[in-house]
Amino acid sequence: MAPRRTKATCEVKRPPLQVYRRKESGTIYLGDALDLFRNEISPGTVDLIVTSPPFGLVRKKDYGNVDAHKYLEWFRPFGEAFKKALKPKGSLVIDIGGAWIPGQPTRSLYHYELLVMLCREVGFHLAQDFFWWSPSKLPTPAEWVTVRRIRVKDAVNCIWWLSPTPWPKASNRRVLLPYSDSMKHLLKNGYKAQRRPSGHDISAKFSTDNGAAIPPNLIALPNTESNSFYLRYCKEHEIKPHPARFPVELPQYFIRMLTDPGDLVVDPFAGSCASGEAADRLDRRWVCCELVESYLRGALGRFEDARDCHQKHLFKSCPARRQDGDEMSYKLHHPSAGWTHQHEFGPLPADGGEARPPTGRSNGR
Ligand SMILES: C[S@@+](CC[C@H](N)C(=O)[O-])C[C@H]1O[C@@H](n2cnc3c(N)ncnc32)[C@H](O)[C@@H]1O
Repeated sequence: MAPRRTKATCEVKRPPLQVYRRKESGTIYLGDALDLFRNEISPGTVDLIVTSPPFGLVRKKDYGNVDAHKYLEWFRPFGEAFKKALKPKGSLVIDIGGAWIPGQPTRSLYHYELLVMLCREVGFHLAQDFFWWSPSKLPTPAEWVTVRRIRVKDAVNCIWWLSPTPWPKASNRRVLLPYSDSMKHLLKNGYKAQRRPSGHDISAKFSTDNGAAIPPNLIALPNTESNSFYLRYCKEHEIKPHPARFPVELPQYFIRMLTDPGDLVVDPFAGSCASGEAADRLDRRWVCCELVESYLRGALGRFEDARDCHQKHLFKSCPARRQDGDEMSYKLHHPSAGWTHQHEFGPLPADGGEARPPTGRSNGR
C-alpha cells in the first residue's frame, strides 16, 4: 500500500496492526506504533527504544510529516507509551532533525520543545544529548545558505538519550574510538601534569594508555550508503528505498552502549528497519513497527541475505560499519583555518539579507 499524499502522518491511512514478518530474533509489525504499544508490548519489558520519528519538517516529504506546530500534540501519546513500555533502567533514544520556519531564516524550536515535554511532562530524564554530524550533508536550505549567505550549513541532527531513571544501564566502553595521532604521541612521550586555561587540573593519569579513547557526544557518520544488502535488495525487487533512513551504525552505536545480548530493542517508527538490522547483528531481540507497507517490503532485504545464504555467522561477525572506500575518520578544520581579512567581502548586509541579491549574485560576495 502506498502512502496517501496527505499533509500529515496522522492522516496516512492506518492499516490494522498485524505481524508483517517474524524473524528468528525479532518481529516486524505493519501498523500504528500506538497500537503496538497498546496491544503487543507489555509494560516494563523493553530495554531500549531507538528511533527516528517523522520530523516536523516544513517542507513536506512523501513519507508524510506532521507540521512542526502540531508535533508535540502528536508525539505526547507515544512518549507516554514509550515510558510505560521501558524497563526502569531502559533508555529511549530519539534521532530528530531540526526545521526552519517557512519563509524566514529562523529555526523551529519543535525538537527542543519535544525534549522539554518528554522530561517535564512525561517524566523522562535527559541522560545526554548527542549530535549526529553527517559530513556529507548538502548546504541547505539553499536560499539562506548559498543564495543570501546569511546562515551556515545545517549538518547535525539532535539525538536525545532519555531514560525513566537518572541511572540507565550504559557503558561508554562499548563505543570507544582509536586514539588520535596526537594522543598516541602524548602517550608515547609523556604528558607534563599542568593546569589548563579552563582551570582544570590535568593529572599525570591523563597519559595512561587505556587502549582506546572515550568518544565525544558528536557522532560523525555519513548517510551515503550505496552498496548495502538493503539497497541491492530494493534494486533487485524494484522497490523504492525509504527516503529518510539513518545508517545502521547509528542505532548500532546506542544498542552497543545501552543493551546486552538478548535484551529487547524496539523501533516504533521503523521505516526500512535499520534498527532491526542493527539489533539482529548484535544478537539483541527486536521489534520494528511501520505504518507504510511499501517500506517494509524493502526492509525484508535487510534480513534476507543472512537467511538465504546461510551465512548468518558471516553477517554477525561483520558488524555494520564502513564499506570499502568509506572514510573512518573526518577532519574538521579549526574555525580560523579559512579566515581572511574581515573586510575582504565588504560590509555585512545591513538588512540582514532580507532583500534577495540579484540572480547570479549572492550577498557579501
Ligand atoms: C524518519 S522515518 C524512519 C526511518 C528509519 N529510521 C530508517 O532508517 O529506515 C519515520 C517513519 O515513521 C513512520 N511512521 C509515522 N507514523 C507512524 C506510526 N504512527 N506508527 C508507525 N510508523 C509510523 C513513517 O511512515 C516513516 O517511515
